[in-house]
Amino acid sequence: MNIGIIGSGSMGTGIAQVAATAGHEVLIFDNNPAALETASTKLQKILNRLVEKGRLDDPQAKAIFGRIYFVDELSAYKDAGLVIEAIVEDLNAKKTVFGHLEKVVSETCILATNTSSLPVTAIAAACEKTTRVLGIHFFNPAPLMKLVEIIPAIQTNSAVVKNARKLIESWGKLVVKAKDTPGFIVNRVARPFYGEALRILEEGLADVPTIDWAMTEIGGFRMGPFQLMDYIGNDVNYTVTETVFKSFFYDPRYKPSFTQKRLAEAGRLGRKTGQGFYAYSENAQNPEPSKDRKLGEDIFWRILVLLINEAADALYLNVASRDDMDLAMTKGVNYPKGLLRWADERGIQNCVETMDRLHQEYLEDRYRCSPLLRKMAREGRKFYE
Ligand code: NAI
Repeated sequence: MNIGIIGSGSMGTGIAQVAATAGHEVLIFDNNPAALETASTKLQKILNRLVEKGRLDDPQAKAIFGRIYFVDELSAYKDAGLVIEAIVEDLNAKKTVFGHLEKVVSETCILATNTSSLPVTAIAAACEKTTRVLGIHFFNPAPLMKLVEIIPAIQTNSAVVKNARKLIESWGKLVVKAKDTPGFIVNRVARPFYGEALRILEEGLADVPTIDWAMTEIGGFRMGPFQLMDYIGNDVNYTVTETVFKSFFYDPRYKPSFTQKRLAEAGRLGRKTGQGFYAYSENAQNPEPSKDRKLGEDIFWRILVLLINEAADALYLNVASRDDMDLAMTKGVNYPKGLLRWADERGIQNCVETMDRLHQEYLEDRYRCSPLLRKMAREGRKFYE
């Protein structure tokens, strides 16, 4: 089967590499010829590096690259079995592309969007045959990240979902299914990891290195929230939070932080600009964490319980199944444990009590406990029984 990719930025290029490595002929198109050139050079470099590291031999790398065709018009997609769109995150631009695409592909071609935050249903609505459109959301970098979220639009035919899933699994990916709601699974459930860390900082309960220390040393996360925000980019991370917040009709649970907004406004975007929450220049001196164990435990538990509450609420609202929820967070953002499993370990009753204590303290809707947690605590149930 031929695979078509639209948009040759970091995601389009990564997905093209994945599909070509799985043996497909891949067509990749971008409306900016310079971006296509860059993608070609980048792909070649990546494949060369894989050869140097011994992950591929030279003929394999050449064969993968030889299966990728950089094309300058969409009409080349007439024989594609699946087209994945990975252009700019702009609803109108995506709708226009889908409208054009539908006119050139075959009747049976599946059309997918890699959007992180736009409604798949609205993108599908740009097509006449809406039933063949779905979201296939890869994580960055696509060749390394195992997780893929599949998001049926409300119009999508179930056979299309099944076939897309089978194909993506055959590329060695772990697939989870998410409802077409803002942030799908990962970008929704992970919000408190950043948001609550920022809140703790703004309240002056602890400084940046102490919060990161609590989450890595005590919590076992690979990176602390501020290290991760600097890595992702404070502009990008802020925009995702703001988009999720707006898409949830301004639910205070997802309210963005001024601290991060100001950093983005100041151009302190993180690693990519040499300064974010931390300084990254040579010889940069960053403050040390306080390593107060009790404070660290409190910080870790407060952030964890908000994450658990978010996962439980997403489960309650049928965004994904229990297993997909835990798989998404362990494979999509490398959490040390699934949040629902963590809830069981920590005790559901304990989670409810902490949420209620925070809610009473702040009288903010941000800290409302999920009805599912409350119900489970009342009935003495666990997520994994
Ligand atoms: P990018 O900015 O690196 O690349 C976008 C590419 O699309 C550019 O080369 C641009 O020239 C091209 N483009 C723009 N309009 C076009 C059009 N009308 N027709 C053809 N090509 C067009 O963006 P990136 O980061 O690769 O993201 C692409 C999509 O993937 C977005 O929807 C984004 O939300 C999503 N995504 C991004 C992730 C990330 O971490 N960067 C992770 C998962 C999804």
